Formats: sequence, structure tokens, C-alpha cells
Amino acid sequence: MSTETNFIQSVVLDDANSTLVILDQTLLPNEKVFLRLTSQNQIWEAIYALRVRGAPAIGIAAGYGAYLGTKESKAKTYEELYEDFKKVKEYLASSRPTAVNLFWALDRMESRFKKEVGKTPDEVKSALREEAEAIRAEDEMVCKTIGENALSLLKDGMGILTHCNAGAIATAKYGTALAPIYLGKERGINFKVYADETRPLLQGARLTAWELQEAEVDVTLIADNMASIVMKEGKIQAVLVGCDRVAANGDTANKIGTSGVAILAKHYGVPFYVCAPLSTIDLNCKTGDDIHIELRPGEEITSKWYEKPMAPEGVKTYNPCFDVSDNRLITAIVTEKGIAYPPYTESLPKLFE
Ligand code: MRU
Repeated sequence: MSTETNFIQSVVLDDANSTLVILDQTLLPNEKVFLRLTSQNQIWEAIYALRVRGAPAIGIAAGYGAYLGTKESKAKTYEELYEDFKKVKEYLASSRPTAVNLFWALDRMESRFKKEVGKTPDEVKSALREEAEAIRAEDEMVCKTIGENALSLLKDGMGILTHCNAGAIATAKYGTALAPIYLGKERGINFKVYADETRPLLQGARLTAWELQEAEVDVTLIADNMASIVMKEGKIQAVLVGCDRVAANGDTANKIGTSGVAILAKHYGVPFYVCAPLSTIDLNCKTGDDIHIELRPGEEITSKWYEKPMAPEGVKTYNPCFDVSDNRLITAIVTEKGIAYPPYTESLPKLFE
């Protein structure tokens, strides 16, 4: 008998109150607080500060943000409204640079805007609401299908290592890398999941370990530097990670530390799978070198989650938020349109046909 997982909705629109309701992921696992965001500035800040995070969830929030920002406009004509829309779009696009879903969602909102040419501002606003809702609803289906496809690569009882959080709260539902784990659980197929804590912002410890434990999945938390020993001890049969941008040659940007895990997996002969909705594949980016890697404040390393600073005052820091796993380290890229294998320059474009 299959029982559907009870997922938390981490990004929802409350249209009647022109509000975006998000689960504040920075407060997890200690507090489950839903924020009610009404201004563009609040939505921008929520994306920048990782209150809403994970590539698909960022895209969903940006879609709703573009709608709500435009809804406020007092423009009297289509053209005036378009000017206001473009300002909102540009502003939200400046919140984070790496996850292509942010730009993908905003471009999709703009395409919808352009399709409504000649309509009244009220009609255009309602089309934008429809588009933003469609982005969210489609993500639910996309994630579930990624889960089905990834599940076909796994066997009951396998040990799975994951890095960062590519779970339900990073998407509309199911997550990407965690989708096969949830789907498996619903069907009585169980895995032993190892979650890297994911320094410095601890998405693995605070979010992945939390959401899997809530779903009663067998999850073990390890510090990032323990990935090698668990692989060496034979505890891991597959690595599953999400991603923020996949280049046309398969090079993949994901949370800092992912490329190290990919190198280890190659060394120990463990398959390394990237789970990616098509909205995260950027064929305009030729290779990983073309992916803009976000740099964040050093205090995230020195003091952010500590009661007292854990580094000497004034020490120099370098805090790249993502790294790129070379395509040669990636066994397969699992999408909603099927599983792409190397050479990715051939298999990835086929997914879009
Ligand atoms: O900085 P974050 O927490 O937004 O980084 C998120 C990740 O790296 C995820 O693995 C990725 O966005 C995929 S989420 C399905």
C-alpha cells in the first residue's frame, strides 16, 4: 500500500492578501516560521538571505514575486505596465546569480507578459498570476517524475550520500535528489541516507537531516570531511545531488563541496547522479567556466551559526557558495524527460526536443 508523504509547502501565494508566504529556511530545524512577504524588497531579501532557497524554490518565489510586484503597479496601459514589470524583473534577478531557475522563471513571466499584448493591465496581471501558479504546479510534477526516473537506478536498501538540500522544501514538492527517496518510501523501498552537513550554511544538517527525519527516512548526518570514509567503508552505493545550473557539456554547479564529493565517488567507483529539472539546464552556458559562482560574506564561515566567532577577528576569508563538478565525474543527469548519459553535449539537447 502506498501512502503519500505529507509535504510542507515552502512557497505559496496568498493572492487575496497580495502576499507570498514562505517557510523561513534559515530558522530550521529549531523553529518552523512562515513569513508573509508583501513587498518586492522583502522577496528579494528572502531570496538573498536563503530564507527561500534551492534552485526550483527560488524560481517559484521569483515568479510569484514578479506577479506581486507588477500587481502593485498603477499603470493605465499595457505599455506602462510593461515598464513597471521590467523594473521588478531586473530587481529580483539581482538577488542571486548562480541558480538559473531564477532567470528562467523571470524570462518565462516576461514571455507570458508579451503574449498578452493589447490586453488591459488587469488582464495582464491575472495572466501573470496564472503563469506563476503554473511554474509552481509544474515543478510538483517535474520533481515527481525525476523521482521516478532516479528510482529506476536504485535498489532497496542502498546507501545514498547527498550534499546540501535538494529536498521537498527546495521545490514545490518531493525535491529533486531526495525525490526517489520519498517516492521509494511511499512504496516500501527504503534507503540508508547519509547527509553531508554542508559547510558553511549547513543545509545538509539543518534541512536535509530535518526533512528526512520528519518523513521517517533512515538518515545519518556526517560532517563534510567524512564522505571519504563512508565511501571507503562501503556504506554508499550511489551519490545523489541537486544542482543550480548545468552547462551544455554537463559541467554542473551545485552547493560548495559537491565537486569534492564527485571526485571521491569517482575514486571509490560509486555512481554520481545529478538530479536536474530541465529548468536548471542552461544550454546557453557552454561549460562550467561560464557559470557565475556566487561569493557570499565571510562571516558565514567565521561566525554565522556559532554563539561566539570560531575564527580570529579580521581573518581573511573566501566564501564561494557553489562549485562546478566536471562532467567527466558525472555518471548520469536525471531529468523529468529521462536520464542523460555522456557525452552530454549530445544527450542534453535531445531532452529539449
Ligand atoms: O545556496 P542554496 O542553499 O540555495 O543551494 C542549493 C543547492 O545547492 C541545491 O543543491 C540546488 O539548488 C538544488 S535544490 C533542488
